[in-house]
Amino acid sequence: MMKDFISILDITDDELGHILSDAIHLKKLRAAGTPHELLRGKSLAMIFEKSSTRTHISFEVGMNELGGHPLFLSTRDLQIGRGEEIRDTARVASRYVSAVMIRAYKHSTIEEFARFAAVPVINGLSDREHPCQLLADIMTINEHFGHLKGLRVAWIGDGNNVCNSLILSSALTGMEVVVASPKGYGPKRKILSHSKGIGGRIHLTRSPEDAARDADVIVTDTWVSMGDENERDERLRAFKGYTVDEHLLKLASPDARVLHCLPAHRGEEISGEVIDGDQSLVWEEAENRLHAQKALLLSLLNRREEIC
Ligand code: CP
Ligand code: NVA
Repeated sequence: MMKDFISILDITDDELGHILSDAIHLKKLRAAGTPHELLRGKSLAMIFEKSSTRTHISFEVGMNELGGHPLFLSTRDLQIGRGEEIRDTARVASRYVSAVMIRAYKHSTIEEFARFAAVPVINGLSDREHPCQLLADIMTINEHFGHLKGLRVAWIGDGNNVCNSLILSSALTGMEVVVASPKGYGPKRKILSHSKGIGGRIHLTRSPEDAARDADVIVTDTWVSMGDENERDERLRAFKGYTVDEHLLKLASPDARVLHCLPAHRGEEISGEVIDGDQSLVWEEAENRLHAQKALLLSLLNRREEIC
């Protein structure tokens, strides 16, 4: 296992397989009320530069359920907020805690933290990637369909951090990814060429209908990510016609399912009928953040043999 989990490509397909099977196992243990305190004595610093509901709660509860100790740290309160260097915080935190999860504006902040940290560092979302979200999404798709390889996943909307992790994961999962986004809001060329270079099957289109047609999974996310708020009006104009609604869902495979990492904006990137409808796996997806991240923590802290 790699020291850190900063990109979805920091794990191999074998490691992804282990995380998925451990996550399912942990989900069953939790449902049965069986204690699984495999991280007793360990601690996780959770550093947030931006808001969070799911990432914060799932890591905090997950660490508690594993018998470890989570620490919520906002950069508003840390000395980072007053200019202390990332590298110094990383060196010092490594003397206290067993692992660090960071949500930061810039991906480079997390990379710098990991370079100077002696303990595993997890990306809890950056402007480039959201790899923890992808673990939960892949787990949710695998649970529903029973396999991943060959499925057609349509991403409809902004070519953002979550989209980047999905694109990069294609080579790991064998899922084909079709991205529909308006001009100027597609994924970065570097991400696309990286994924294609390692065997990712990625197609781009401007047409949400073309992407949705025969898709097994439709995924979307906000049109205005954290940090993009000053572009809100122009983004709402650019994304007109990209709402995942019943019209788009009807073009997909009859058994298609819909994912959204949340928070959602009903009437913008997704309609109320779709997110609250029978084909939505959004709530299972949100729950799976907990199980997938617990499995990730066990892998990074070398405790996964204990549950096997
Ligand atoms: N999906 C997700 O990461 O949600 P939060 O921003 O609430 O953590
Ligand atoms: N793309 C969104 C994801 C939130 C979980 C953002 O970066 O704000």
